[in-house]
Amino acid sequence: MGARRIGRVLNLAARWYVDETVFQRERASIFDRTWQYAGPVGRIDHPGAYVTLDIAGSGVIVIRGGDGELRAFRNVCRHRGSTLLTQPAGTCATIRCPYHHWVFDDQGRLIATPHFGVEADGLRSEDWPLDAVHLELWRGLVFVAIDPVESLLEQLGELPDELADEPIETYSAQATARVEFDANWKIYTDNFVEGYHIPGIHPDFHAAIEFGRFSTTSHGGYVRMSAPPRPSLFYRGVWLWMWPNWTLSLFDGGMNTSRINPLAVDRTEQLYDFHFADTS
Ligand code: FES
Repeated sequence: MGARRIGRVLNLAARWYVDETVFQRERASIFDRTWQYAGPVGRIDHPGAYVTLDIAGSGVIVIRGGDGELRAFRNVCRHRGSTLLTQPAGTCATIRCPYHHWVFDDQGRLIATPHFGVEADGLRSEDWPLDAVHLELWRGLVFVAIDPVESLLEQLGELPDELADEPIETYSAQATARVEFDANWKIYTDNFVEGYHIPGIHPDFHAAIEFGRFSTTSHGGYVRMSAPPRPSLFYRGVWLWMWPNWTLSLFDGGMNTSRINPLAVDRTEQLYDFHFADTS
């Protein structure tokens, strides 16, 4: 049995939060098959600019080529599988593997196999490009998908309507933050979409909203939490969680986004971007 009934709702069984086989199934059926938020496009704004990200254990590079195009690749060398780029962001003219120094260009093509000797006889470089990853842009945000089951817009569902009047593509991401904690990724997710814990766990937040009017509603592709803010609240009183693992919270003059990324069945990182309309 995968779930237990509590009142009129279903709760996942405990083993879904601790079982390694469940986690491996989630990697294959959720994280490899969905669009993952990869950050603001402004962060990858010049030729050679790149970011790397981990998607539940799968490494991905997003890089802007000399032709101006954004592309995404698996961050895995085609020779013997070494990780290619180890920094979270940077600029590079070519991608050189740190292991045996194979070199790929900014379009993922293999362009050099130094010291490969006689083994290079018959090796056709065009047979060994980096593995491409799907990439889409939506309103200034970059999304990548390893093997998507649907288009980005299909996954976003009703979110474009929710944010139609918010000028999010005009914002500039000025800061990042990363936290890592000992918990299954669904523990954090369950808490993000649940306001019931606010009085007990977040007394200052509780005092800053009209908690009696806290509302949680489910929509296509996302869950919306809202509460009328009191003057002391930094946020505008709307918090969004999108399938399967990113969030967006609005404040006056900007927003913060985050991606909830599992590192292991019992370890999770959360990667925040802080976007502002006025960067002065
Ligand atoms: Fe990259 Fe050998 S693993 S060049």
